[in-house]
Amino acid sequence: MVDRSDVGNLVGIDDIAVYVPRLFISAVKEFASSRGIEPGKLTKGIGVENMAVPDFHEDAATMAAMSVLELMKRNELRPDQVGRIYVGTESGVDESKAIGTYVIGMLEKVYGKGRFQECSTVEFKFACIGATHALENVAYWLKSQDWCNFGQGNDEGSDSDICDDMVGIVVASDIARYDLKSPGEYTQGAGSVSLLIKKNPRLIAFDPAMGVFTKDENDFFRPIGMKTAVVDGKYSNLCYLSAMEGAFESYKKRALNRKMICPKEDECVTDYLSHIIFHIPYPRMAEYASAALFRKEWGELSRWNAIEEEIGKEPISKDFEGDGEFFRAKNDYNRRFSKTRAFLEAYEKKVKPSTIISAHIGNIYTGSIYLGLASLFEERKLFSGERVGFGSYGSGCSAIFFSGVVQPGIESLQTGGLKRRLDARTETSLKDYELLHEGERKESVIVPSKEFALIKIDQDGYRHYDFVD
Ligand code: HMG
Repeated sequence: MVDRSDVGNLVGIDDIAVYVPRLFISAVKEFASSRGIEPGKLTKGIGVENMAVPDFHEDAATMAAMSVLELMKRNELRPDQVGRIYVGTESGVDESKAIGTYVIGMLEKVYGKGRFQECSTVEFKFACIGATHALENVAYWLKSQDWCNFGQGNDEGSDSDICDDMVGIVVASDIARYDLKSPGEYTQGAGSVSLLIKKNPRLIAFDPAMGVFTKDENDFFRPIGMKTAVVDGKYSNLCYLSAMEGAFESYKKRALNRKMICPKEDECVTDYLSHIIFHIPYPRMAEYASAALFRKEWGELSRWNAIEEEIGKEPISKDFEGDGEFFRAKNDYNRRFSKTRAFLEAYEKKVKPSTIISAHIGNIYTGSIYLGLASLFEERKLFSGERVGFGSYGSGCSAIFFSGVVQPGIESLQTGGLKRRLDARTETSLKDYELLHEGERKESVIVPSKEFALIKIDQDGYRHYDFVD
């Protein structure tokens, strides 16, 4: 449990809304057999059961607008309270026009024209870490609301009224798409997550420490004009792990310097994190990432002796010719560590519950870490006073590690009924999935109803959206 003396000055996540397309494909039925893959590889080796499939009328903008609308309705937000809608996406719909302007256009179909005129929006692109940058920026903006000349709101109120009323929304919206029949294909998915960012939040208040790691890598990228990512899958796993370790070390240094976490003799920082939510391109990756962090932290403690007895000594770089070989040896050792009882206990308790929902949606790129948060919330695994670590990763590459503390307000928050909505989805045939994937299907599989839909793209390339009743 964490003691907070700075209550009143906290900024963080107040509520969370998830949108998932109504179509999905099961990874284990026709899909697995058509690709000649044993279902066990997908369910156990990768950790995926189902993947969300965007219908013909859906794109990153409609999905973003859907989760923002749910968040606004559930919290009875007025458009003039929303000072920022920052969108993280790598599935942008235009090379120049910010996706948020399309989102605002859609929201104004519901709330009325011009109602979001004073709301700023910008698109954050950095593979799967874009939304985390958006989150950092919205949090800073809210903190700086005390500097009210630059703030927004109703000029008639006192300064504190102006500041306290304003909120920001971070939206993560993406379609993860790889070539048909490629190894990336079973790590696809689609969806959006909207986070309500507020002062004195009900869900999570951010800690004042963040660790960053950035390096130029070619693990995963999508050159302009390409519809699917170019990916070196195995290498991307290694880049993810090395960046995550770097970001965690950077976070740890800051958390210790600030005395935010004060481990006792023979304890470590992860002992003080009740949950760790990682970027989840597929559920097994969160397991590999936890193994990397726990191994590094426990290696300096007496508990490591028992582990070395079980799996031998850890590889050291001077015994290897190049980075690649050393990476691989470390990875192999990691796998052995991940079979130990001590690791499995910590993983089951601190990490696995955040991957439950991902297994039924797939990778939603920049939203997937926040889908992990929704999963914990939906499963009612978060309790007031617990500290939660977030390990965000974006290919290319960068990782950010930060943390926050679960707030007492969580008890009054209703979950979004996500599991019920997942159960109500329609399973698509392999044929329709492939036609949609290749852009060859020219009408929706499910006729849009009570949702935002892409109606047409005109001859200039401008996109027309509407709310379909
Ligand atoms: P693959 O070729 O399927 O990998 O590629 P594999 O053959 O090594 O199999 C994976 C696991 O399945 C292994 O488990 C196998 O043993 C196991 P492990 O040895 O690691 O414990 N397996 C089985 N298990 C049970 N029963 C069986 C069986 N057969 C094998 N019968 C890979 C996997 C993820 C690389 C591929 O799907 C891919 O390229 N995906 C796309 C890239 C990706 O997701 N990378 C993740 C890290 S990068 C990232 O997260 C960023 C990203 O989100 C993009 C962004 O930032 O925007 C991707």
